[in-house]
This record gives sequence, C-alpha cells and structure tokens, in this order.
Amino acid sequence: MSQKPSAIPEITRREAAQVAGAVALSAPFISRVKAANNQIQYAVIGTGGRGRYHLDHWRKVDGGRCVAICDVDDEAIKKALEVAPDKPQTYKDYRELLGRKDIDAVQIATPLYTHFPITRDAMMAGKHVFCEKSLVFKPEEVHALRALCAERPKQTMQVGLQRRYSEFYQTARQMVQKGMIGEVTNVYTQWNRVGLGKTWTPPSWRCFKKYSGGLVGELASHQIDIADWMFDATPEFVTGVGGIDYYKDGRDIYDNCQLIFKYPKGQKLMGSYISTNKHLAMFQGTRTEFGEMIMGTQGTIEITVGTDNEPAIGVWYYEPGPKVEKAGEGKEKAAAATASLTSTGKGGRPLPILLSKDQMSDADSFLAKEMKFAKRWLYGKGIMTPEEPKNPVDTQLESFLECIRTGKKPVADLEIGLNDSTAVILANLAMDEGRRVFFNEMEKMGKTPEPAKAGAAAKKA
Ligand SMILES: NC(=O)c1ccc[n+]([C@@H]2O[C@H](COP(=O)([O-])OP(=O)(O)OC[C@H]3O[C@@H](n4cnc5c(N)ncnc54)[C@H](O)[C@@H]3O)[C@@H](O)[C@H]2O)c1
Repeated sequence: MSQKPSAIPEITRREAAQVAGAVALSAPFISRVKAANNQIQYAVIGTGGRGRYHLDHWRKVDGGRCVAICDVDDEAIKKALEVAPDKPQTYKDYRELLGRKDIDAVQIATPLYTHFPITRDAMMAGKHVFCEKSLVFKPEEVHALRALCAERPKQTMQVGLQRRYSEFYQTARQMVQKGMIGEVTNVYTQWNRVGLGKTWTPPSWRCFKKYSGGLVGELASHQIDIADWMFDATPEFVTGVGGIDYYKDGRDIYDNCQLIFKYPKGQKLMGSYISTNKHLAMFQGTRTEFGEMIMGTQGTIEITVGTDNEPAIGVWYYEPGPKVEKAGEGKEKAAAATASLTSTGKGGRPLPILLSKDQMSDADSFLAKEMKFAKRWLYGKGIMTPEEPKNPVDTQLESFLECIRTGKKPVADLEIGLNDSTAVILANLAMDEGRRVFFNEMEKMGKTPEPAKAGAAAKKA
C-alpha cells in the first residue's frame, strides 16, 4: 500500500470553478446498466487499506461485477487482487479506466486531496460515483461538486458515511424523532487512540495538511455527521484547539484536538480526538476509542458501529426529569427546576436499543412473540445484546447498486457529504486560526479569485 502522496496534480480554484461550465460539453448521462446480464459493472479506484476492505465486502454483494481496479502503487494492486471478486483488469491511471464504456460505476478510496479531481472526472465520464468520506477537501471543491452534480441528476453520488446505513443508528434517530429522550441538547463524541500507528506516520499523506484533513477529516467526520443527523441541522459555528503535542516527527496535522460546534437551536457537539489515551467512558467500559453520546432532556443514547472484530453497540438510559424551563418562564418555576436538576441521584441501567427484528408486531405468531419476550428479557439482564443483522458497510454497497438501478437518492447523498466536508474544513480552520468560524463563511470561500492569480490576470489585461 502506498502511503506517500500520489502525483495527481493539485486542483486550483480556477479549475474547480471551470467544472460547472465544462459539464455541458461532457459525456451524456447513463441511466441504464450496460452489461447484458444486468449486473452493474463497477471499478474500485484506490486499493489501499479502505479500497481492499471494500473489495472484500463487495464479494458478499449481489448484482454487481468488479471489472477493474486502479492504484498508482503496484504493491497495492497486487494485494487487492488477492481479495477482489471477479478477476478485475488492473490500471495505474484512473483516467484510462474511466475511458471504458462498459463501466457503470466507480468507487473511490484514494487519499482525501484526490477525491475531488477523481470524482469530477468520473462524473464527467458519465459514471455513478461512490466516494469515501470526507467527500471533498477544499471550499472551492464544495461549490464545484454541488454544481457538477446538479447538472447530472441521473448519476448516483454516494458518500462513505456508513453509520447512516446502520440499523442501530437508524433506530436511534427514530427514538430522537419520537421524543423518547426528550429534546436533544448535546452530542458528545470521542475517537481517542493510544498511538496513531503506521498509517499515521510520515510520509503517509494523512500526516500533512496539504493532502489530509488530519484527525478531523479521517475520524471526526463520521461523528459530526451523526450530530447533524440527530440535531437535524448543520452547525452555526465551530471553535477548537489543536496541537502537535506528542508527535514531533515532521507532521503538520494536529495529534490532539478538542472541538465544539454550536447548532442553531443552541445545541452543542463536543468532540475529542487525542492520541495518548483510548479509554472510552461508554458501554460500561467494554469498548475503547470511538462512540457517540446523544444527550436529551429525558435520556441518553450511547452508540457505536461495529468493527470486523467487535459488534455494534447501542444502549440508552431513560432519565425522566423535570421539564427544563426556558429563560423568561418565571423565576419561581425556573428556580424549582434548577434545584431538582442539580441533585445527582442514582444512575440508571442501560436499556438495549431494540432493532426492528426485536420489535413486537401483530403479525408475529405466538411462538415468535414468546421468543422476542425471552430475548428482550436476556437483553434487559445484560446476558445477551442485540446484534445488527448486517454490517452497514455491506448495506451501503447494496444500497449504492440499488440507487443506480432505481434512481433513488442515496441515504448518504451529496449534500450530506458536502455538509460533512464543510464541517471538516471549517473545524480545521478554527483550530488553525484560533477563532470561531461561522458556517456561512463557506458561501464566500473558494469563490473569490486567489489574490496572486487575480493580480497576474489584471497585469496581463
Ligand atoms: N468510511 C470509513 O470508515 C473509512 C475508513 C478508512 C478510510 N476511509 C477513507 O478512504 C480513503 C482512503 O483511505 P485508506 O485508508 O485506504 O488510505 P491508503 O493510503 O491506505 O490507500 C490509498 C490508496 O490510494 C492510492 N492512490 C493515491 N492516489 C491515487 C490515484 N491518483 N489513483 C489511484 N490510486 C491512488 C494509494 O496508492 C493507496 O494505495 C480516505 O479518504 C479515507 O478517509 C474511510
């Protein structure tokens, strides 16, 4: 696997701005699957860690055929062929691959700084695109990709934010919508590690701002998306503190970040990303590193995705409390509410998040109901935990093919991806500049000409 940045040229603002204009000249839309056997023919571009993980998971998915893979690194190609389904043809230059008319779709799992140019070229070659998170890297790419996709509505654009495809997270979202944990006021997220490991060691692209969004782009991006989803909003501003505090090895991305995002109704997302301690104070200490806590006025959800070795976990705590009085509702009422809120009391027991397969239904037979009761009892005693029926990574791959076939909007679609990338870009800017960065600043960013180029253009004229 190549860890070094590849030789793909950097995109300039001017090039990004030209994208929308060039769209009209590019290849026509495809709306039908090209293979005679009705299999969607796809290619994977970038066969490093993530690309290979996907190839392995593609093997479990019906309805598609992997006809090509591409990586600039021979070793990455070699390793990918060991796990890839369908004996794909190999390429070193993705443009050559995009020239193949029989390819319907591409999945992009290359370093962040290459996502936009490859996605742009793939869209313009008429392919459906699944691009890993974080979708784009620079403000100008946010605007350019939005414009490009608006011109090509028949092409699927899906982003690799797999938590959106998890039944646990979908159930948590329904619980929030039904008011089961009251009004959601805060989300706390953590993705702390002990040591950052080989993939985070120079010269890996991940270690340099020129190529990477650092811990925010690689880790926080998943969790910011969860907060957006649970709050049903995007942030108003972000502030944060980042430091290169422990890894003095030439990297210029932070190894220690604390972020706070404020959402329009006053809700906050607080996220911690450190590299010196992985303890996670959730799930009764049974997991480490990453998880999200969704905190409402009547309860809290603790949730995380599974890995290849660990199951997903979703529990919640019911905390019936006094109604939180809003400012201006009367001094006496507010004082009474505050008094009862400040007593600590005893903590609650975690309750399992019940997935649809565990919910009672009128259609269930007597036996099925008895089984569900028994399972729930075991969940309640902590003897058994609910398990997600499918890895959300598999669900997102299946869903990608389904969206291509039906024209359905992906669950993790372009706007979700762009909102997520915007948050990554602005959170890094907030730490770099040590200020509150407002999300509406993005409207102007990447649209004005770069000063040096504007000067040169004026001279020429
Ligand atoms: N959704 C998730 O949970 C998840 C998990 C891991 C990684 N990712 C994302 O996947 C992407 C790749 O991450 P990774 O861990 O696989 O990185 P990696 O460094 O292991 O692999 C990237 C691969 O892309 C190749 N590459 C670079 N430029 C290329 C180009 N122009 N054409 C073809 N190949 C090129 C490299 O040679 C390398 O093999 C990143 O955006 C990362 O954030 C997502």
